[in-house]
Amino acid sequence: MSKTILTGLRPTGNLHLGHYFGAAQNWLRLQDDYDFYLEIADIQALTDNFDNPEKVRKNVHEIAIDLLSIGINPDKVHLFIQSAVPEIAELTVIYSNLVTMSRLYRNPTVKNEIAQRKALFGNEGESVTYGFVGYPVSQAADITAFNGQLVPVGEDQLPLIEQCREIVRKFNSIYGKVLIEPEPLLSKFRRVKGLDGSEKMGKSLNNGIFLSDSEEVVSKKIMGAVTDPDKIKKDDPANPDICMVYYYHKLIGSKNLENICEECKLGKRGCVACKKELIKNMMEFLKPIHEKRAYYEAHPEEVDAILLKGTKEARAKAKEVMKTVRQAVKIDYFD
Ligand code: TRP
Repeated sequence: MSKTILTGLRPTGNLHLGHYFGAAQNWLRLQDDYDFYLEIADIQALTDNFDNPEKVRKNVHEIAIDLLSIGINPDKVHLFIQSAVPEIAELTVIYSNLVTMSRLYRNPTVKNEIAQRKALFGNEGESVTYGFVGYPVSQAADITAFNGQLVPVGEDQLPLIEQCREIVRKFNSIYGKVLIEPEPLLSKFRRVKGLDGSEKMGKSLNNGIFLSDSEEVVSKKIMGAVTDPDKIKKDDPANPDICMVYYYHKLIGSKNLENICEECKLGKRGCVACKKELIKNMMEFLKPIHEKRAYYEAHPEEVDAILLKGTKEARAKAKEVMKTVRQAVKIDYFD
């Protein structure tokens, strides 16, 4: 039996190159060798978007199309919607007794997000809800409702996995050894820089290229990318290592990379020409993704059917696990 892996993503916007090279590309490799549960975490997205359900709803569909377009294979992966597996919510409630408030507030990921909210909204008391502080508990349920053994995530998620492991240990010590303690799978996660040169490409920073961006949008974004500020004239020599255009040539594996680098250093390559070449290469890279996207956009009923199938599979598994959990907690009245 292959190992079970589970990972999730919040449907709050389309996937960009940061998601692709940072995480999703790795999922494509994993889907061949594991029993893979891929969760569209709409309930988690609602923790900080509860007042905007239309946004979450729309993005569930968008994210599903993004994932299918990059090559997530619905015959291999259980692609499912979190809210449609209510067993996860049930498990969250059971777990909520096993975590202290102070432990939640000490979770580095949550702490960080609370600090960001304070900066944004001023008063923490007004903006930090029970559901928000508790989302690590819900995420622990996401993972363990499927007996997830490995969780492919980025470094920023490690405190959430650790919290999940603690909950599992506590559960098992009180109710008997029922649950599996999951492990993070940190494989080769890379953080992708933004077009503006900042360390991270982020939806809210408006510095990224989305997998769904049209040629017009891609052109505009790349033409505005940050290059070596000391290069003023077309034939000034420059430093490609501080140029985002070169960085993206490298990221997508442009041909003649060495030439690009040398010509830039020698002042034989103007930034405009270099950007145009990147636009061409980027559109080539995006082409197969765009083709698949166009197909799924024209066949929304197929996307719905894929989500329904994946969710049914996920729910069957979660039901099995919940049965053992209810037995252990002695609430299996009518099972
Ligand atoms: N918290 C993750 C993120 O923001 C998304 C997520 C939800 C997740 N449930 C999960 C990740 C379970 C791993 C496992 O990206």
